[in-house]
Amino acid sequence: MLEKLQKLGHLVGNTPLVPLEHPSIHLYTKLEYHNLMNSVKARTAYYMLSSAIKRGEIHEGTTLIESSSGNLAIALATFCQYLKIKFIPVIDPNINGVYEDLLRSISYQVVKVTDRDETGGFLLTRLKKIQDLLHSIPNAYWTNQYQNPDNFYAHYHGIGTELVQHFETLDYAFIGVGTGGTISGISNRLKEAFPNVKVIAVDSEGSVIFNDKPKKRHIPGIGASTVPELVKRAVIDEVVHISEQHTVEGCHQLFENHGIFAGGSSGTSYYAIQQYFQDKAFAEKPNVVFLCPDNGVPYVQTVYNAEWIKWLLNQSVCIS
Ligand SMILES: Cc1ncc(COP(=O)(O)O)c(C=O)c1O
Repeated sequence: MLEKLQKLGHLVGNTPLVPLEHPSIHLYTKLEYHNLMNSVKARTAYYMLSSAIKRGEIHEGTTLIESSSGNLAIALATFCQYLKIKFIPVIDPNINGVYEDLLRSISYQVVKVTDRDETGGFLLTRLKKIQDLLHSIPNAYWTNQYQNPDNFYAHYHGIGTELVQHFETLDYAFIGVGTGGTISGISNRLKEAFPNVKVIAVDSEGSVIFNDKPKKRHIPGIGASTVPELVKRAVIDEVVHISEQHTVEGCHQLFENHGIFAGGSSGTSYYAIQQYFQDKAFAEKPNVVFLCPDNGVPYVQTVYNAEWIKWLLNQSVCIS
Protein backbone atom coordinates (compact mmCIF):
# COMPACT_ATOMS: atom_id res chain seq x y z
CA MET A 1 0.00 0.00 0.00
CA LEU A 2 2.82 2.39 0.90
CA GLU A 3 4.65 1.64 -2.34
CA LYS A 4 1.47 2.38 -4.29
CA LEU A 5 0.94 5.70 -2.48
CA GLN A 6 4.55 6.70 -3.08
CA LYS A 7 3.93 6.47 -6.83
CA LEU A 8 1.94 9.71 -6.44
CA GLY A 9 4.69 11.37 -4.39
CA HIS A 10 5.99 13.33 -7.39
CA LEU A 11 2.66 15.22 -7.48
CA VAL A 12 3.23 16.61 -3.98
CA GLY A 13 5.62 19.44 -3.06
CA ASN A 14 8.41 21.31 -4.88
CA THR A 15 5.94 24.06 -5.72
CA PRO A 16 7.00 27.25 -7.55
CA LEU A 17 8.26 30.22 -5.51
CA VAL A 18 7.61 33.39 -7.52
CA PRO A 19 8.67 37.03 -6.97
CA LEU A 20 5.94 39.69 -6.95
CA GLU A 21 6.59 43.38 -7.61
CA HIS A 22 6.39 45.54 -4.47
CA PRO A 23 7.75 49.06 -3.80
CA SER A 24 9.37 48.49 -0.40
CA ILE A 25 10.03 44.75 0.08
CA HIS A 26 11.27 41.74 -1.88
CA LEU A 27 8.00 39.82 -1.96
CA TYR A 28 7.68 36.13 -2.87
CA THR A 29 4.77 33.73 -2.87
CA LYS A 30 4.80 29.96 -2.91
CA LEU A 31 2.12 28.64 -5.24
CA GLU A 32 0.81 25.74 -3.22
CA TYR A 33 -2.06 25.24 -5.65
CA HIS A 34 0.47 23.48 -7.87
CA ASN A 35 0.14 20.43 -5.61
CA LEU A 36 -2.08 17.44 -6.44
CA MET A 37 -5.76 18.52 -6.45
CA ASN A 38 -4.68 22.15 -6.28
CA SER A 39 -3.91 22.80 -2.64
CA VAL A 40 -1.33 22.79 0.13
CA LYS A 41 -3.35 20.05 1.82
CA ALA A 42 -1.96 17.43 -0.57
CA ARG A 43 1.20 17.69 1.53
CA THR A 44 -0.68 17.09 4.80
CA ALA A 45 -2.77 14.25 3.37
CA TYR A 46 0.20 12.49 1.80
CA TYR A 47 2.35 12.73 4.92
CA MET A 48 -0.41 11.69 7.36
CA LEU A 49 -1.42 8.72 5.18
CA SER A 50 2.08 7.45 4.49
CA SER A 51 3.06 7.70 8.16
CA ALA A 52 -0.12 5.90 9.32
CA ILE A 53 0.39 3.16 6.71
CA LYS A 54 4.01 2.74 7.90
CA ARG A 55 2.76 2.39 11.50
CA GLY A 56 0.24 -0.24 10.38
CA GLU A 57 -2.74 1.94 11.36
CA ILE A 58 -4.28 2.03 7.86
CA HIS A 59 -4.91 -1.11 5.80
CA GLU A 60 -7.23 -2.37 3.03
CA GLY A 61 -10.29 -2.59 5.36
CA THR A 62 -9.95 0.92 6.82
CA THR A 63 -12.64 3.59 6.52
CA LEU A 64 -10.90 6.93 6.76
CA ILE A 65 -12.76 9.83 8.41
CA GLU A 66 -11.79 13.49 8.57
CA SER A 67 -13.32 16.87 9.35
CA SER A 68 -12.35 19.32 6.62
CA SER A 69 -13.54 22.58 5.11
CA GLY A 70 -12.65 21.17 1.74
CA ASN A 71 -9.02 21.06 0.69
CA LEU A 72 -7.81 18.30 3.01
CA ALA A 73 -10.90 16.25 2.29
CA ILE A 74 -10.34 16.52 -1.46
CA ALA A 75 -6.69 15.47 -1.16
CA LEU A 76 -7.59 12.56 1.15
CA ALA A 77 -10.49 11.49 -1.10
CA THR A 78 -8.11 11.41 -4.07
CA PHE A 79 -5.49 9.32 -2.29
CA CYS A 80 -8.12 7.00 -0.77
CA GLN A 81 -9.76 6.38 -4.12
CA TYR A 82 -6.34 5.58 -5.58
CA LEU A 83 -5.59 3.22 -2.66
CA LYS A 84 -9.12 1.75 -2.88
CA ILE A 85 -10.09 2.47 0.72
CA LYS A 86 -13.30 4.14 1.91
CA PHE A 87 -13.26 7.82 2.84
CA ILE A 88 -15.95 9.84 4.66
CA PRO A 89 -15.40 13.60 4.95
CA VAL A 90 -17.37 15.57 7.55
CA ILE A 91 -18.14 18.99 6.04
CA ASP A 92 -20.24 22.06 6.91
CA PRO A 93 -22.28 24.71 5.05
CA ASN A 94 -19.23 27.02 4.64
CA ILE A 95 -17.83 24.63 2.06
CA ASN A 96 -17.58 25.96 -1.53
CA GLY A 97 -20.35 24.52 -3.72
CA VAL A 98 -17.81 23.21 -6.23
CA TYR A 99 -15.90 21.40 -3.46
CA GLU A 100 -19.03 19.79 -2.15
CA ASP A 101 -19.97 18.49 -5.61
CA LEU A 102 -16.45 17.20 -6.12
CA LEU A 103 -16.36 15.47 -2.74
CA ARG A 104 -19.72 13.85 -3.35
CA SER A 105 -18.37 12.39 -6.58
CA ILE A 106 -15.04 11.05 -5.26
CA SER A 107 -15.78 10.02 -1.64
CA TYR A 108 -17.44 6.87 -0.35
CA GLN A 109 -19.96 9.03 1.57
CA VAL A 110 -20.20 12.70 2.65
CA VAL A 111 -21.55 13.77 6.05
CA LYS A 112 -22.64 17.42 6.29
CA VAL A 113 -23.37 19.03 9.66
CA THR A 114 -25.70 22.02 9.72
CA ASP A 115 -25.83 23.21 13.35
CA ARG A 116 -23.48 26.00 14.42
CA ASP A 117 -21.50 25.46 17.62
CA GLU A 118 -21.53 27.83 20.60
CA THR A 119 -18.81 30.05 19.01
CA GLY A 120 -20.86 30.58 15.84
CA GLY A 121 -18.63 28.24 13.77
CA PHE A 122 -19.08 24.58 12.82
CA LEU A 123 -15.85 22.97 13.95
CA LEU A 124 -17.09 21.71 17.31
CA THR A 125 -20.20 20.22 15.69
CA ARG A 126 -18.01 18.51 13.08
CA LEU A 127 -15.73 17.06 15.75
CA LYS A 128 -18.71 15.68 17.65
CA LYS A 129 -19.96 14.03 14.46
CA ILE A 130 -16.51 12.43 13.99
CA GLN A 131 -16.80 10.82 17.43
CA ASP A 132 -20.23 9.40 16.50
CA LEU A 133 -18.82 7.92 13.27
CA LEU A 134 -15.76 6.45 15.02
CA HIS A 135 -18.11 4.61 17.38
CA SER A 136 -20.52 3.37 14.72
CA ILE A 137 -18.19 2.34 11.83
CA PRO A 138 -15.94 -0.72 12.19
CA ASN A 139 -12.24 -0.15 11.32
CA ALA A 140 -12.75 3.60 11.21
CA TYR A 141 -9.57 5.70 11.32
CA TRP A 142 -9.50 9.45 11.97
CA THR A 143 -6.47 11.28 10.61
CA ASN A 144 -7.24 14.12 13.06
CA GLN A 145 -5.50 16.98 11.27
CA TYR A 146 -5.95 19.28 14.30
CA GLN A 147 -3.68 17.20 16.54
CA ASN A 148 -1.73 14.86 14.27
CA PRO A 149 2.04 15.54 14.57
CA ASP A 150 2.40 14.40 10.95
CA ASN A 151 0.51 17.54 9.92
CA PHE A 152 3.41 19.43 11.56
CA TYR A 153 6.11 17.28 9.93
CA ALA A 154 4.49 17.51 6.48
CA HIS A 155 5.26 21.23 6.49
CA TYR A 156 8.47 21.12 8.51
CA HIS A 157 10.03 18.80 5.93
CA GLY A 158 7.98 20.15 3.00
CA ILE A 159 7.50 23.91 2.58
CA GLY A 160 9.90 24.66 5.47
CA THR A 161 12.81 22.82 3.87
CA GLU A 162 11.98 24.08 0.38
CA LEU A 163 12.09 27.70 1.63
CA VAL A 164 15.35 27.11 3.49
CA GLN A 165 16.90 25.69 0.33
CA HIS A 166 15.76 28.67 -1.73
CA PHE A 167 16.65 31.67 0.44
CA GLU A 168 20.06 32.71 1.72
CA THR A 169 18.22 34.83 4.22
CA LEU A 170 14.53 35.31 4.97
CA ASP A 171 13.14 38.17 7.05
CA TYR A 172 9.37 37.65 7.22
CA ALA A 173 6.94 34.77 6.63
CA PHE A 174 3.19 35.48 6.65
CA ILE A 175 1.25 32.25 7.20
CA GLY A 176 -2.52 31.73 7.39
CA VAL A 177 -3.71 29.54 10.25
CA GLY A 178 -6.45 26.92 10.30
CA THR A 179 -5.31 23.71 12.00
CA GLY A 180 -1.91 25.30 12.64
CA GLY A 181 -0.09 22.50 10.82
CA THR A 182 1.39 24.80 8.20
CA ILE A 183 2.56 27.51 10.57
CA SER A 184 3.92 25.14 13.21
CA GLY A 185 5.97 23.08 10.75
CA ILE A 186 7.24 26.01 8.70
CA SER A 187 7.99 28.30 11.65
CA ASN A 188 10.12 25.71 13.43
CA ARG A 189 12.10 24.90 10.28
CA LEU A 190 12.60 28.57 9.35
CA LYS A 191 13.71 29.61 12.84
CA GLU A 192 16.40 26.90 12.81
CA ALA A 193 17.86 28.20 9.55
CA PHE A 194 17.13 31.94 9.95
CA PRO A 195 16.96 32.75 13.69
CA ASN A 196 15.95 36.37 12.99
CA VAL A 197 13.03 35.56 10.69
CA LYS A 198 9.73 37.05 11.89
CA VAL A 199 6.79 34.68 11.60
CA ILE A 200 3.48 36.52 11.30
CA ALA A 201 0.35 34.44 11.88
CA VAL A 202 -2.56 35.54 9.71
CA ASP A 203 -6.04 34.79 11.03
CA SER A 204 -9.53 35.99 10.13
CA GLU A 205 -11.53 38.27 12.38
CA GLY A 206 -13.95 36.27 14.50
CA SER A 207 -11.69 33.21 14.69
CA VAL A 208 -10.84 32.26 18.28
CA ILE A 209 -7.36 30.78 17.57
CA PHE A 210 -5.59 33.90 18.87
CA ASN A 211 -8.28 35.13 21.27
CA ASP A 212 -10.34 37.26 18.91
CA LYS A 213 -14.00 37.64 19.83
CA PRO A 214 -15.94 34.83 18.10
CA LYS A 215 -18.13 35.87 15.19
CA LYS A 216 -19.66 34.26 12.12
CA ARG A 217 -17.18 33.68 9.29
CA HIS A 218 -18.04 32.73 5.73
CA ILE A 219 -14.77 32.08 3.90
CA PRO A 220 -13.27 28.63 4.48
CA GLY A 221 -9.58 27.81 4.94
CA ILE A 222 -8.21 29.89 7.79
CA GLY A 223 -9.69 30.59 11.20
CA ALA A 224 -11.23 28.15 13.69
CA SER A 225 -13.81 28.09 16.43
CA THR A 226 -11.43 26.33 18.84
CA VAL A 227 -7.69 26.58 19.52
CA PRO A 228 -6.03 23.71 17.63
CA GLU A 229 -3.41 21.73 19.54
CA LEU A 230 -0.84 22.15 16.76
CA VAL A 231 -0.83 25.95 17.01
CA LYS A 232 0.90 25.57 20.39
CA ARG A 233 3.95 24.16 18.58
CA ALA A 234 4.24 27.18 16.28
CA VAL A 235 6.89 29.85 16.90
CA ILE A 236 4.99 33.06 16.23
CA ASP A 237 6.25 36.64 16.53
CA GLU A 238 3.08 38.55 15.71
CA VAL A 239 -0.56 37.87 14.90
CA VAL A 240 -2.72 39.89 12.51
CA HIS A 241 -6.48 39.58 12.15
CA ILE A 242 -8.01 40.42 8.79
CA SER A 243 -11.71 41.02 8.12
CA GLU A 244 -13.45 38.97 5.44
CA GLN A 245 -14.08 42.19 3.52
CA HIS A 246 -10.30 42.76 3.38
CA THR A 247 -9.74 39.12 2.42
CA VAL A 248 -11.90 39.78 -0.63
CA GLU A 249 -9.92 42.97 -1.39
CA GLY A 250 -6.63 41.09 -1.03
CA CYS A 251 -7.76 38.36 -3.44
CA HIS A 252 -8.82 40.91 -6.06
CA GLN A 253 -5.57 42.89 -5.69
CA LEU A 254 -3.51 39.73 -6.06
CA PHE A 255 -5.35 38.93 -9.29
CA GLU A 256 -5.39 42.44 -10.74
CA ASN A 257 -1.82 43.41 -9.78
CA HIS A 258 -0.04 40.08 -10.27
CA GLY A 259 -2.29 37.78 -12.33
CA ILE A 260 -2.52 35.31 -9.45
CA PHE A 261 -6.03 33.90 -9.13
CA ALA A 262 -5.95 32.48 -5.63
CA GLY A 263 -8.24 31.38 -2.80
CA GLY A 264 -9.39 33.28 0.29
CA SER A 265 -6.43 32.63 2.59
CA SER A 266 -3.95 33.76 -0.10
CA GLY A 267 -5.74 37.11 -0.37
CA THR A 268 -5.86 37.36 3.43
CA SER A 269 -2.07 37.02 3.69
CA TYR A 270 -1.51 39.39 0.76
CA TYR A 271 -3.75 42.02 2.39
CA ALA A 272 -1.96 41.52 5.73
CA ILE A 273 1.39 42.19 4.03
CA GLN A 274 0.14 45.37 2.31
CA GLN A 275 -1.17 46.67 5.63
CA TYR A 276 1.90 45.64 7.64
CA PHE A 277 4.47 47.29 5.38
CA GLN A 278 2.52 50.37 4.28
CA ASP A 279 4.28 52.75 6.69
CA LYS A 280 7.56 50.88 7.18
CA ALA A 281 10.78 51.97 5.48
CA PHE A 282 13.94 49.88 5.23
CA ALA A 283 17.56 50.72 4.33
CA GLU A 284 17.65 47.33 2.64
CA LYS A 285 14.52 45.66 1.31
CA PRO A 286 13.62 42.60 3.45
CA ASN A 287 12.75 39.22 1.94
CA VAL A 288 9.10 38.45 2.64
CA VAL A 289 7.23 35.27 1.77
CA PHE A 290 3.60 34.18 1.91
CA LEU A 291 1.71 31.15 0.64
CA CYS A 292 -1.06 30.73 -1.90
CA PRO A 293 -2.60 27.58 -0.34
CA ASP A 294 -5.25 27.11 -3.04
CA ASN A 295 -6.48 28.72 -6.26
CA GLY A 296 -9.46 30.96 -6.95
CA VAL A 297 -11.66 28.65 -9.01
CA PRO A 298 -13.62 27.21 -6.04
CA TYR A 299 -14.30 30.80 -4.90
CA VAL A 300 -15.96 32.07 -8.10
CA GLN A 301 -19.38 31.98 -6.46
CA THR A 302 -18.15 33.84 -3.36
CA VAL A 303 -14.95 35.91 -3.16
CA TYR A 304 -15.02 36.62 -6.92
CA ASN A 305 -18.79 37.11 -7.24
CA ALA A 306 -20.13 40.70 -7.11
CA GLU A 307 -23.54 39.69 -5.68
CA TRP A 308 -21.97 37.61 -2.93
CA ILE A 309 -19.58 40.44 -2.04
CA LYS A 310 -22.55 42.81 -1.69
CA TRP A 311 -24.22 40.26 0.59
CA LEU A 312 -21.01 39.92 2.67
CA LEU A 313 -20.75 43.69 3.11
CA ASN A 314 -24.34 43.74 4.37
CA GLN A 315 -23.47 41.06 6.94
CA SER A 316 -20.63 43.21 8.34
CA VAL A 317 -22.94 46.22 8.56
CA CYS A 318 -25.45 44.15 10.56
CA ILE A 319 -22.78 42.86 12.96
CA SER A 320 -21.15 46.21 13.81
C1 LIG B 1 -7.07 27.43 1.70
C2 LIG B 1 -6.40 27.17 3.01
N1 LIG B 1 -5.50 28.04 3.46
C3 LIG B 1 -4.90 27.88 4.66
C4 LIG B 1 -5.19 26.82 5.46
C5 LIG B 1 -4.56 26.71 6.83
O1 LIG B 1 -3.64 25.71 6.95
P1 LIG B 1 -3.45 24.92 8.31
O2 LIG B 1 -4.66 24.07 8.48
O3 LIG B 1 -2.22 24.11 8.08
O4 LIG B 1 -3.29 25.90 9.41
C6 LIG B 1 -6.12 25.88 5.01
C7 LIG B 1 -6.50 24.76 5.85
O5 LIG B 1 -7.49 24.08 5.61
C8 LIG B 1 -6.74 26.05 3.76
O6 LIG B 1 -7.66 25.17 3.29
